[in-house]
Amino acid sequence: MNVYDIIPRPWEITLTDGYYVPDGEGLYIKIKDTMREDEYSLEISEKGVKIKAGGEQGIFYAKKTLELLSSEGKMQNCVIKDKPRFAYRGFMIDSVRHMQTVEEIKTYIEAAALLKFNYFHWHLTDDQGWRIETEKYPLLNMVGSYRKSSDFGSVHTGEQYGGFYTKDEIRDIVRFCRERFITVVPEFELPGHCSAAIASYPYLSCTGEQIEVETRQGVYRNILCPSKETTFEFIRGVLDEITELFPGEYVHIGGDEAPKDRWKECPHCRSKLEELGLRDFEQLQGFLTNRAALYLESKGKTVIVWNESLKSGMLRKKTVVQNWMDKDKLCAPWVNGGGKMIVSDFYHYYLDYPYGMTPLNKTLSFEPVIKGIKPECESGVIGVEAPIWTEYIDNFEHMCYMCFPRLAAVAQTAWSHEKPKADDFAARCKSLCGVLENIGVSPASYEEWNPSPLKRAGQVVKFFAGNINGDDVKNFLGINKKKAKEQ
Ligand code: ACM
Ligand code: ZN
Repeated sequence: MNVYDIIPRPWEITLTDGYYVPDGEGLYIKIKDTMREDEYSLEISEKGVKIKAGGEQGIFYAKKTLELLSSEGKMQNCVIKDKPRFAYRGFMIDSVRHMQTVEEIKTYIEAAALLKFNYFHWHLTDDQGWRIETEKYPLLNMVGSYRKSSDFGSVHTGEQYGGFYTKDEIRDIVRFCRERFITVVPEFELPGHCSAAIASYPYLSCTGEQIEVETRQGVYRNILCPSKETTFEFIRGVLDEITELFPGEYVHIGGDEAPKDRWKECPHCRSKLEELGLRDFEQLQGFLTNRAALYLESKGKTVIVWNESLKSGMLRKKTVVQNWMDKDKLCAPWVNGGGKMIVSDFYHYYLDYPYGMTPLNKTLSFEPVIKGIKPECESGVIGVEAPIWTEYIDNFEHMCYMCFPRLAAVAQTAWSHEKPKADDFAARCKSLCGVLENIGVSPASYEEWNPSPLKRAGQVVKFFAGNINGDDVKNFLGINKKKAKEQ
């Protein structure tokens, strides 16, 4: 591969004369104390390849660059100096709505490692299933891991669907990631998106009613009751098992899309609100989030939450906010106040939406240091993450088609300051596709990446006609965004 085709583009490239044909020898590696752990340089000459790096992680990235460079045999001699723009370069997989096999997840991780991602956010609990093996709460697996049918718009099956990843499988994936300098961030959603947990243990909700694991996409009203000690016992118990399985710094505890209808009707929640002197039910969510966060902090963890958690106005300062749709414009003030943020903008980084809505160019054009952040606070943006939600994605081939090459555009922004032109970047992606195919990932074909306006309109109509959901339509058209602006 041409050195200028490498994604993400290295920071500094100097071409020198001649070519080097790798022969399995002539690789020299040196650790340099003056470099950062994840920083490296590469010197390719007739004599061979010299890697200098701050640590093992830098050596790994140097080798990934070499893997791309040497994908077609001989390499142009050059000197590369390289280091990442953002410390957090994430990808998320939703294994709830549809599961992937361990081998499929590993294949995706392999492709992400090639693009120098370093965090795998694994969405493992939601309304439609519980995907972590647990010993303390066996019903989570016996009841919560299975749904009667699946009814996600165009993806429909009348058969029972489910399962969970065993602890051994999870450890295997964590180990596989560690070998690639990727940390796994498990997500246990609180207090919303908890139907699978409540179906398993109805005492967790305000009403205590028996409900079923959900079979459709959406936002559900039955959420955890934050006013009973038994709820916190459960949260702590699950977190104990999760932290035992996932040794990384971060644990994601959700916080998005938690309607307060049940809390408003619940006598326990109403008296809790009064007892704590809280302003409103958003603050009751803040109370729950902060208790879970404190528990995790006592175990040396840092908590990540979706941006709705900012509505309480009382989030612990150490918490990292993941900005996916900031309708209330709370993210920039959070960062300006010293808070940390990961950016997963719905309109640019949600890879489950068709190319017609989110073409490759659009993903590439996104700037994660969003408007409103003061220059002196920019370091609060610790990175970016691209999620793939799987309501409408029930097989790995489809998942790869949706994610590649758009994930490469996210990698470019995550690592590099360089902002490529659309055509130039598409050409680089073409070079990358062959390497991805060798890993077992089949990207969308070139014609799909940046469809014409007419094709885009057709895809949008087809997508919403097949998976109709009023809120999604409004979100995408920016109606909710506009509303938030007007308020
Ligand atoms: C989300 O997409 N509800 C985080
Ligand atoms: Zn309640």
